[in-house]
Amino acid sequence: MTIGPQPGIMQIKPYQGGAAHIEGTQNAVKLSSNENPFGPSEDAVEAFRRTAFDLHRYPSTDHASLRQAIATTHGLEADKMICGVGSDEIISLLCQAYAGPGDEVIHTEHGFAMYRISALAAGANPVEVVERERMADVRAILAACTDKTRLVFIANPNNPTGTMIGDGEIAHLAKNLPDHVLLVLDGAYAEYVEGYDGGASLVDQRDNVVMTRTFSKLYGLGGLRVGWGYGPAHVIDVLNRIRGPFNLSQPALAAAEAAVKDLAYTAKCRLENTRLRSWMADALAEHGVSSDTSMGNFILARFASQAEAQSCDSHLLSQGLIVRSVVGYKLPNYLRITVGDESACRRVAHAVGQFKSGAL
Ligand SMILES: Cc1ncc(COP(=O)(O)O)c(C=O)c1O
Repeated sequence: MTIGPQPGIMQIKPYQGGAAHIEGTQNAVKLSSNENPFGPSEDAVEAFRRTAFDLHRYPSTDHASLRQAIATTHGLEADKMICGVGSDEIISLLCQAYAGPGDEVIHTEHGFAMYRISALAAGANPVEVVERERMADVRAILAACTDKTRLVFIANPNNPTGTMIGDGEIAHLAKNLPDHVLLVLDGAYAEYVEGYDGGASLVDQRDNVVMTRTFSKLYGLGGLRVGWGYGPAHVIDVLNRIRGPFNLSQPALAAAEAAVKDLAYTAKCRLENTRLRSWMADALAEHGVSSDTSMGNFILARFASQAEAQSCDSHLLSQGLIVRSVVGYKLPNYLRITVGDESACRRVAHAVGQFKSGAL
């Protein structure tokens, strides 16, 4: 056959999700995908169950009810919102709509893998910009912009580093980008940061900023695949033209709507994450494993070398603990560990302590 894929596609290294099982182990704990260890709100589960009676019906095409619920909870305008199959779909739609062959899409050195994948899938060239001490560097990003740049992706907080840059820096970046560039603020972990709006107010002030958000993290609905984007009307209009009309299933829409309304549950999960994250970071530091202050629901644990990180990963696996190697994110000396429930955090701290003391 002579048929081949579009340019860029064969350069894509397929995304690797976090491992979920350990052969022969019953009580393995998955701390490799930044999921909420407490699961979703009971209201969300109940709303999901109720949809079982209507599975023969097509879902809503405009997601009006979910958009309104999100808008009410976050104090936003429902008209400037689009819902997608995870925020992954919003990232992909943005690349498809705004970047094609010859165009450039900027992402940071340790940025989320889907930016590069989605840029290549659209035929565009991903451009990696160095970070400073695992933090996005807005001056380096501005310097990397060319006539060909179309999109700049920054996750704030970032995965897998857990670091965050301030509102002032983000505003400076948005203000100084060339007119032909759209800034995408990925707020997958924004809900974990008390008082942070994920960049929503900047979206309201400007016409070159889009924010993406997800139900997969704090809301505990990764299995249902719901995300959303918030942006200027002209961008939302463009994305809606290429979005599949029935991209979200009714069970997903109903569960997400109930989840975003359950403010007490999300507040509880946020608090518990903050408490356990700081406990785990301190416990690991006591064993000689340091980390940057994380603003997400995970810790990027630092080891002396790639060999040490790999041996610790193997030891954790032998103890039934699945964490994430981040070699593919150019962080070979690190392991990313999701903040689990209290028992999982204690098991991690204990196993890392065993590893570091050589008492294996
Ligand atoms: C920074 C970041 N953005 C986006 C996503 C995608 O989330 P989802 O497609 O589940 O909404 C993730 C998932 O890990 C992430 O870490």
